[in-house]
Amino acid sequence: MDWRNNRLCELLGIEHPIIQAPMAGATSQEMVVAACNAGALGSLGSAEYTSEKLEAEFAYIRANTNAPFNANFFTHDEPDIDAEKGAAARKRLAPWYDEYSFEKVPEAIPSSRSFNKEICDCICALKPAVVSFHFGLPDAELVAQIKAEGIKILCSATSVQEAVWLEQNGVDAIIAQGFEAGGHSGWFMDRNGADLTGMFALVPRIVDAVSVPVIAAGGIMDGRGVAAALVLGASGVQMGTAFISAPESLVSDVHKNAASNASGDDTVHSTAFSGRKARTIVNRYALEFADVKDWPDFPIGNTLSKPLRKASSDVGSPDAMALWAGQAVGLNQTKSTAEIIEDVVAQTKGILGNMG
Ligand SMILES: Cc1cc2nc3c(=O)[nH]c(=O)nc-3n(C[C@H](O)[C@H](O)[C@H](O)COP(=O)(O)O)c2cc1C
Repeated sequence: MDWRNNRLCELLGIEHPIIQAPMAGATSQEMVVAACNAGALGSLGSAEYTSEKLEAEFAYIRANTNAPFNANFFTHDEPDIDAEKGAAARKRLAPWYDEYSFEKVPEAIPSSRSFNKEICDCICALKPAVVSFHFGLPDAELVAQIKAEGIKILCSATSVQEAVWLEQNGVDAIIAQGFEAGGHSGWFMDRNGADLTGMFALVPRIVDAVSVPVIAAGGIMDGRGVAAALVLGASGVQMGTAFISAPESLVSDVHKNAASNASGDDTVHSTAFSGRKARTIVNRYALEFADVKDWPDFPIGNTLSKPLRKASSDVGSPDAMALWAGQAVGLNQTKSTAEIIEDVVAQTKGILGNMG
């Protein structure tokens, strides 16, 4: 079985069926180049980038690799500006700002916009090989515009229902994102109060339900995880937490230290940082707000918490930071992006080779 000779590699034009996950605030242009040059698909976490920033990062990447790469965007509903929820959130955060920063709690306004026509025009002019979306797809006209340029579209799904809808609405491959995954869950359809699903339970059911290639995400840190995902029927994997401590990662040393010391049994989904469920290493902030449900809509929480998160990091304290990491963070290593990919490829080859 040649695990690298598969539909996903063919679709995306890559050597190994491994995607370095887009991670807003963590992935750098240097990480994308390193991942691409190691034969994986490098991904820019560009959800909060302006057109100018996108152009600059694309120029750097293209000057340093000829390989295909991915640019990732968020596709959330624009938030309701609810004055009461905003005031309650600001009141809750005031003691934290008093403790960590001389600044006032920011106004409760959105930190960034969802993927829109302006960014779509920019992306269609820049033409990356791949665009990926988190929290669902943009409007059908924008999807059609991207597809008309020959750009491949990926999107995260957290349920079979979402995966089927994504296939019907034009995606070229589906990222099956399990409960284990670090950072924001990409859920976008109501789950009637049910929990998110783990990667092992999600991947084979999505593989059975759609005909496009499926990419497994959540808890995959080494060749064992890649081999398991492929045996479950995935055509490839997307790995995020594995790269957060790499020298090319933009997260602070406080975040990297927390990741090095975390076991993986110490992460939690929290809505208190952004307004949407995201997996972080447990800290004082996540614990204090664990039961609070009425945060302003995403991404207003980012505006409210970002200066505090930075102030906490600046004084070397993990207590008020968003320490995004997945449930397998205990397997995290401080290696370069290229070394991580080389090791994962060698381990996977060893395991699948031995299976005959
Ligand atoms: C620090 C961090 C930031 C993330 N930011 C994004 C993002 O901007 N866009 C996105 O689609 N996924 C984001 N994710 C989720 C990843 O794409 C992926 O689903 C996840 O990392 C897979 O699980 P793992 O972390 O266990 O490997 C992020 C994950 C982490 C750890």
